[in-house]
Amino acid sequence: MMSLMIVSMLSASSPALPVWVRASGDYSREQPPRLAEAQVPLEPVQRKRMKDLQYDRMGDYEGVPLEQILRSYEAPKEVDTALLHFSNEMLVPVPLRELEKLGVFVAVRTCSAEACTAEFAPVAKKDQPWADRRPIRFTSNKVVVVAAADKRFSPFRHTSTLTGIELVNGRAYDRQFEVSEAPNVRAGLATFRERCQFCHGARGVGANFGWDYVKPIALYTYRSPKSLAMHVRHRESDAHDKGLMMPAIADVDDAAAGALWELLEAFAKNPLKPYTVP
Ligand code: HEC
Repeated sequence: MMSLMIVSMLSASSPALPVWVRASGDYSREQPPRLAEAQVPLEPVQRKRMKDLQYDRMGDYEGVPLEQILRSYEAPKEVDTALLHFSNEMLVPVPLRELEKLGVFVAVRTCSAEACTAEFAPVAKKDQPWADRRPIRFTSNKVVVVAAADKRFSPFRHTSTLTGIELVNGRAYDRQFEVSEAPNVRAGLATFRERCQFCHGARGVGANFGWDYVKPIALYTYRSPKSLAMHVRHRESDAHDKGLMMPAIADVDDAAAGALWELLEAFAKNPLKPYTVP
């Protein structure tokens, strides 16, 4: 529940983020009201030098570690996961116990030797031949996650400005998508959680950066398992001209893509489960 301290710390000038607890309900039918919503100020800011995953270079930032933002919010005990909402409608679940390890830093300013500014450069530059026509743009903040040595998939390569933090029970959140016990569907769901859920949802539940898998078109009817595999692993050569935003995800093999296709079919043929806290 919101503590009084948060309210008294709120000042008009400091940027703040809404933090709330997910209410029980069937999110494929309605958007239940947010519980215990509070505006948590992004302060006190600290300065950090990090090699940002998106810019792929060292930079100086002023901001607040995500775990610090959450420390000032008293969450009910069933909460174990933060769902990060972004301005491009990505949704990234982060287990609270991994917060520190992940080192998610919410930067409100980026600094050079001379000064700090609240303006973050877009992630793709226009003057580069491979530039995305729709670069990732930031407004009031930028999530900074340290680049891993290898180029493995991370949703934080694609996130824009953090717009809110929804606290959930991770098991109850995941369960919404468990529409079938068939082994292939379960395998598809595992890949969905690791690679797709950050951008895609089904029946209005989950992220909404890429297309919903079911509405308005059930995407499994539109692609065969084979062409889904091609779509996920490779980008069409004119993808940049078309302004397409989905990254190529090279490590989804044919078997995994086939299982994903069965999951998409199962989403279209079965209702999702309501979010109910155990
Ligand atoms: C970083 C965000 C992101 C991730 C991760 C992502 N997608 Fe997408 N996807 C998009 C966007 C955005 C579109 C809309 C078209 C575009 O801009 O490329 C899209 C479009 C699609 C489409 C419909 C278009 C078509 O041509 O069929 C399918 C199907 C799809 N994605 C499947 C997947 C699957 C399966 C995964 C996981 C393996 C995945 N996506 C991961 C962002 C993403």
